[in-house]
Amino acid sequence: MKPEKRIVELREALHDHNYRYYVLNDPSISDGEYDTMLRELESLENDNPSLITKNSPTQRVGASPIPEFGSIPHRIPMLSLANAMNENELSAFDERIQKGLDEESVVYMAEPKLDGLGVELVYENGTFVHGSTRGDGYTGEDITHNLKTIRGIPLSLRIDDLNAPSLLEIRGEVFIRKDDFKKLNQQQESSDKPAFANPRNAAAGSLRQLDPAITANRPLSIYCYEAGMIEGIYFANHSSFLTALKKWGLPVNPLIQTVVGSSGLIQYHQKLEAQRNELRYEIDGTVFKVNDYEKRETLGTRSRSPRWAIAGKFKAQQATTVIHDIEVQVGRTGALTPVAKLEPVYVAGVTVTNATLHNQDEIDRKDIRIGDTVLIERAGDVIPKVMKVILEKRPKISHPFQIPNNCPVCEHEAYRPEGEVILRCGNISCPRQIKGRIHHFASKLALDIDGLGEKIVDQLVEEKIIHSIDNLFTLEKKTLADLERLGEKSAENLIDAISKSKETTFARFVYALGIRNVGEHIAKVFEKQYVGNLKKFQNASIEALEEIDEIGPIVAETVVQFWSDESNKIIVQNCLNNGVTLANVDTIKNQSFEGLTFVFTGALEKLSRKEAKDMVEKLGGKAAGSVSKKTSFVVAGPGAGSKLKKAKDLDVHVLTEEEFLVKVKKIQNQETLKGL
Ligand code: IVH
Repeated sequence: MKPEKRIVELREALHDHNYRYYVLNDPSISDGEYDTMLRELESLENDNPSLITKNSPTQRVGASPIPEFGSIPHRIPMLSLANAMNENELSAFDERIQKGLDEESVVYMAEPKLDGLGVELVYENGTFVHGSTRGDGYTGEDITHNLKTIRGIPLSLRIDDLNAPSLLEIRGEVFIRKDDFKKLNQQQESSDKPAFANPRNAAAGSLRQLDPAITANRPLSIYCYEAGMIEGIYFANHSSFLTALKKWGLPVNPLIQTVVGSSGLIQYHQKLEAQRNELRYEIDGTVFKVNDYEKRETLGTRSRSPRWAIAGKFKAQQATTVIHDIEVQVGRTGALTPVAKLEPVYVAGVTVTNATLHNQDEIDRKDIRIGDTVLIERAGDVIPKVMKVILEKRPKISHPFQIPNNCPVCEHEAYRPEGEVILRCGNISCPRQIKGRIHHFASKLALDIDGLGEKIVDQLVEEKIIHSIDNLFTLEKKTLADLERLGEKSAENLIDAISKSKETTFARFVYALGIRNVGEHIAKVFEKQYVGNLKKFQNASIEALEEIDEIGPIVAETVVQFWSDESNKIIVQNCLNNGVTLANVDTIKNQSFEGLTFVFTGALEKLSRKEAKDMVEKLGGKAAGSVSKKTSFVVAGPGAGSKLKKAKDLDVHVLTEEEFLVKVKKIQNQETLKGL
């Protein structure tokens, strides 16, 4: 047989076996036989390199590692799901939907909530062109090279039963099966590499490799469950979309089914929860989605999650273990928190070694002692809790545990503010608190001071060089260079980083101050409310703060309390006097194109080249003159020639001018959405 013919035959057969294995769950050959065929194909292609195609099953591992991750904006944001913590909340969800649609028996799609990583796959005219992580929901990281190594992801769609649409964006979850995870960790151990804490971490780590050869050796699986943007085919509902996915060769979870009304939701949820431990993969709940797409439109979305869907959370999982010790930790607000040091135990997908004991009241109420065997519980991502002591297993000699009345760091007396259960170190100059505040101030989501890590902060505070955040801005290079472990060069870099960090935003700065209960999101809410006016924010009353959407009485009170301390105002003023500037809110840039390079070629009809270039740059991207492997998109108009050809040869994404404009508009709309 001619090699051309055998190659085509092998590719088709392998494609088909993949489909039987991953979609139909009904393989007709063994893994060994599959590998033999794949090797035969590899050797034929080696002998006939001109016959290699992009979509050949041998091309799953691209040639070389990539230098860094590019970013890919999601044309439709990847939202998250609101949670229902119990059956009542599931019923309440059904009631809201009934009301919203003015309809009694609503049909839902019921799905397992897979505990992996959300990704987006993009197929153009049936070919897998790129894939990305969820990222912040608006822009993700380009992980095409790694997704290609996942055998469950077809490099081209099957078109035996249904033609491929011109554009198909699919969302799904990449995960590692429990048995594969066990094997992977055994491999890690036998090659002296650290074991992964759980399948989810292992999957995340695998997708974030620059070298696809590493990812190819990780046993990643995928199930697809949502649509992004689709062009060239219309679906009236989610069930027909999922059916089409299977026809195209994309794996869809077999436990997905339709259910009706609140009893349908609850029954499915209970059934799946009972089945949970028998499944071959980790799930952390159920997902229910209104099946009909028009009805989804009617219901609409909130800023971060659609109204038409909900995640049903499972009850926490429990295990027993022994408390070896109780440590008291000091937080950056001075709170003394007792933490139980546990004999490591595997529960709900992770190895647990610590559990918070919250405070003395909790310890007394449950009579928790060192040496006790305890029942611990882990729910979702929160720190595990000790539920109760198993008294029968208490050692003969044991003593009630008392949190020492002095701060374990500075030995200053601790106090308990009125009405609170938590002990606090009363020393605002406690080195641990100072270090914590400064470290938080410099962290990524705050002022993002590169190079000011925990160790350096510790040193600076211990040597009494700085004692509050404003001192950072008057640091001198010489002082830093004299520090142990920090040479001239690092000192200079750090001074540069500090100086760069001065140009920041209201939201980052307010978050950086570490006001209790004011996280990243709430800081943005304040930024929007006060349009970047710090003075107004400082002088706001509890009542005024409470009027703001999303701000409750607790946040309002802590904010007012924070500013009532004159020293906080002085510190902030010192920062401003030393050059900290907060960007005008309306000039805070949308940087969705950051990391992307565009090349324009051919005649543009709506835009001048200059306008197109400006648009790209305004969104943080680059416009280049020639096409290379680093080009993210080529925008081609009529008459495009060699650059277009080169783009196709290099497998660079090509857009029409119209598609480019749609992309930009979408991003601009998302920006308004984000601001809502
Ligand atoms: S639908 C708006 N379906 O859960 C719809 N998500 O909190 C959002 N997830 O980021 C996605 N299983 O990574 C959907 N069957 C399922 C899912 C699922 C797991 C993850 C997904 C998403 C997160 C939402």
